[in-house]
Amino acid sequence: MFANRVLSGMRPTGRLHLGHYHGVLKNWLKLQHEHECLFFVADWHALTTHYDTPEVISQNVWDMVVDWLAAGVDPAQATLFVQSRVIEHAELHLLLSMMTPLGWLERVPTYKDQQEKLTDKDLSTYGFLGYPLLQSADILIYRANLVPVGEDQVPHIEFTREICRRFNHLYGREPGFEEKALAAIKKLGAKKAKLYQELRTAYQEQGEDSALDSAKAILNDAQNLSLGDRERLFGYLEGGGRMILAEPEALLTEASKMPGLDGQKMSKSYNNTIALREDLDSVAKKIRTMPTDPARVRRTDAGDPQKCPVWQFHLVYSDDAVKEWVVKGCASAGIGCIECKQPVIDAVQRELTPIHDRAKHYEENPDHVRNIIADGCEKAQELARETMRDVRESMGLNYT
Ligand code: TRP
Ligand code: SF4
Repeated sequence: MFANRVLSGMRPTGRLHLGHYHGVLKNWLKLQHEHECLFFVADWHALTTHYDTPEVISQNVWDMVVDWLAAGVDPAQATLFVQSRVIEHAELHLLLSMMTPLGWLERVPTYKDQQEKLTDKDLSTYGFLGYPLLQSADILIYRANLVPVGEDQVPHIEFTREICRRFNHLYGREPGFEEKALAAIKKLGAKKAKLYQELRTAYQEQGEDSALDSAKAILNDAQNLSLGDRERLFGYLEGGGRMILAEPEALLTEASKMPGLDGQKMSKSYNNTIALREDLDSVAKKIRTMPTDPARVRRTDAGDPQKCPVWQFHLVYSDDAVKEWVVKGCASAGIGCIECKQPVIDAVQRELTPIHDRAKHYEENPDHVRNIIADGCEKAQELARETMRDVRESMGLNYT
């Protein structure tokens, strides 16, 4: 099986476009072949900012799933699900909230930034403050170790790591852990017990990873250890107690090189996007009317690709020969802008064609989409339940 578990979520706030495709989605397509992947629709996270327009969310959830599938996210390889249909996320969020210092949440940079940026909304809510903690619950509930996110989300992963450590520190210690660990060591037999102790010291004092590996090998080979003792001794090697939750790592997604039609970042709020399901005529029209180097007022005026958003598209889509043709033709007024845009139009249309074909299938078979998500939710819930059993037990909630 896979050694890594990848988890990522996206808020359903609108149709996906080429910016998403060249950034997040292509990365997901690669990851789904390499690791166990869980991708989910973060509908509760969308509600933290859109609590007054919930109807936006329900439509966008299905549109976004269709966009994922159209882009090539493969439900046979990745588990696709919807956050609010795995209610265990909410339980973990609640339980984590008991031990989350308010100051940690207030210090997360996105909290103040977003509040200042989205001035048309009142974001002084409990839910919005808890946004990063809900995200921590999303991640920790699957014991995911890799979380692909953009730069802006890295502080949320850092925050999650801190919550994870605090949780393990507070609840990973069973009463009498040390004594129980020492008793378990004796069960290894004199020779192995001595070796285990030496390796533990070498790891903890000199940080020798090879010592850690050897000690783990001893535990794996030990026939006469109970499961509980084995786990204790794994925990005793690395520090305090049992690791109930696993510390995740951010897997930084490279920023998309795909600019918007006006040369700014492609974004719905700038109204400069090409949607993944944009029809091909509209694609051609949008590119034909893109602004170019303002110095080229007349066809005979020379231009400079560096000052032209179309050139940014050539950097994404064109090979060296075409790029040379553009550079020469633009500087010498040898080609016109409409001519220059044609290879870009062709390339974007070529890229979108298979995406449209897949989208068409899912648009015509909404039940298929619902089934994919129902399956994914079921798989995700199974994993989430396993973690919640341990979390409840460690927080003293399994009394009768
Ligand atoms: N906050 C993320 C974003 O805005 C979305 C998200 C929610 C997420 N939960 C997550 C991403 C868990 C990764 C892991 O992009
Ligand atoms: Fe831009 Fe091409 Fe026109 Fe030059 S020729 S200004 S690169 S569109």
